[in-house]
Amino acid sequence: MAIRNIREYGDEVLNKKCKEITEMTPRIKELIEDMLETMYEANGVGLAAPQVGILKRVVVIDVTGEDPYILINPRIVESSGEQTGQEGCLSVPGKSGQVTRPNYVKAVALDVNMRPFEIEGTELLARAICHELDHLDGHLYVEKVEGELLDVVYDEEEEE
Ligand code: NI
Repeated sequence: MAIRNIREYGDEVLNKKCKEITEMTPRIKELIEDMLETMYEANGVGLAAPQVGILKRVVVIDVTGEDPYILINPRIVESSGEQTGQEGCLSVPGKSGQVTRPNYVKAVALDVNMRPFEIEGTELLARAICHELDHLDGHLYVEKVEGELLDVVYDEEEEE
């Protein structure tokens, strides 16, 4: 496993549409392992393949820090409600902005064995699913920010 370089806002790879994964290969398995390690190292709750420069439809999400979801070729099939809150992205470091998302989403995806499964989430998980899936179509949350993009103020005591 290895930590990969996270591409930042302005890198055109982040604005491209990703391709579906048609078969699991050792290379894609390695990509997924690396994405997990990269996400945890950056204290993120989600990471999409284009953020490490790979234009394939795979995202990893972990809003609890304990149990990652790996979503291959994910697609939102149901959504409802609305939530408005602060959002950030590992590709836009030091910034956050207010974004409105559905409060509930259901998605279908393939797991690492290329078997289909469903994932449902509310609140932060719903927000993370929407945010990460947007990356696969070349969209960043900054396009959806209501008002100003803010500088994140870190609490010094929380830094390690
Ligand atoms: Ni992001």
